Amino acid sequence: MSGPPEIVVCAGRDSLYERAARRVAEAARASTAARGRFAVALSGGSTPRPLFERLADPTRGQAVAWEIAHVFWADERCVPQDHEDSNYRLANEALLEAVAIPPERVHRIHGEELDPEEAAARYERELRETLSVPPRATPHLDLVLLGLGPDGHTASLFPDSEALDRADRLVVEVAASEPRMQPPVVERITLTPRAINAAYEVLFLVTGEAKAPAVAAVLEGPREPARWPAQAIDPLEGRVSWLLDAAAAAKLAGLGEAVESDPP
Ligand code: 6PG
Repeated sequence: MSGPPEIVVCAGRDSLYERAARRVAEAARASTAARGRFAVALSGGSTPRPLFERLADPTRGQAVAWEIAHVFWADERCVPQDHEDSNYRLANEALLEAVAIPPERVHRIHGEELDPEEAAARYERELRETLSVPPRATPHLDLVLLGLGPDGHTASLFPDSEALDRADRLVVEVAASEPRMQPPVVERITLTPRAINAAYEVLFLVTGEAKAPAVAAVLEGPREPARWPAQAIDPLEGRVSWLLDAAAAAKLAGLGEAVESDPP
C-alpha cells in the first residue's frame, strides 16, 4: 500500500485540466528519464476529452515525447473503433491524430473483432510483451488515467463485479448494463485492479456534482470495494492522486492536510 491518496481540489475546470496536463507531462518526463519509455493507459468517458485536447495542443506548452510513448487503455467497450462509445475513437480524435505517435505504439483493445474473452487474453499478452515482462509477471504501467462513475465504478470495474477479484488476470471481459444502448448490455474489456495497482502512478480525474457522493464514499467511507470499486485501486508502491473540481469535492468532509487547493 502506498499511503493515502493525494487529493487536489481545483476551483475551476480550466485549472483542473491544466494541472492534469502538467501531471501527464511530468509523468512522461520522469518515466522517460527513469525507464526510457512512457507507458500510459488512457480512460474513456467524457471527462478526459478536454485533457486530451490540451495535450494535443502544442501552444499550451505541455510537451510529451509521444514518439517514445506506448498508449494503452484502461478499458474499452466491445464496439467498432469508429463507434461513438469507443474509448479509442475519443482519444484518437482528441489527441492521437494530432501528435507524432507511431501507430505501432498505440495499443487499442480489439473488443469488436474477437470474442471478448479472447480479446482480453490478447490484450493481456500485448501488455506483457510491450513492457517486456515474462508470462504471468505483472507489468508496471507508468501512468493510468481513470475516471469515476456515480456508482463508484472506475475503468470497467463495476459494483459486485467478479473482475474486482481476478488476481490471476491483468485484463478481463465484463458485461455492463448500458440502458441507452441496444441491446442494453454491452461487453467490455478492462484492466483488473492487479494491473492498475502495479502502475507507478494512477491519476483519477473527476468533475461535477453528480460524482460528489461517490467521491466522498470512495475516499472517506468505510472500505467496501465491492460496493465502491474505485476503492480497489490502491497501488502497491505507486502514487495515486485525485484531481477534483469543487463540485465533485463538495461532499468531502475532512479534507485535512492531504488537500492542496487551487492555485498550485
Ligand atoms: C468509460 C470508463 C468509465 C468512466 C466513468 C466516468 O466510460 O469508458 O469505463 O470508467 O471513466 O464512467 O465517465 P464520464 O467521464 O463520462 O463521467
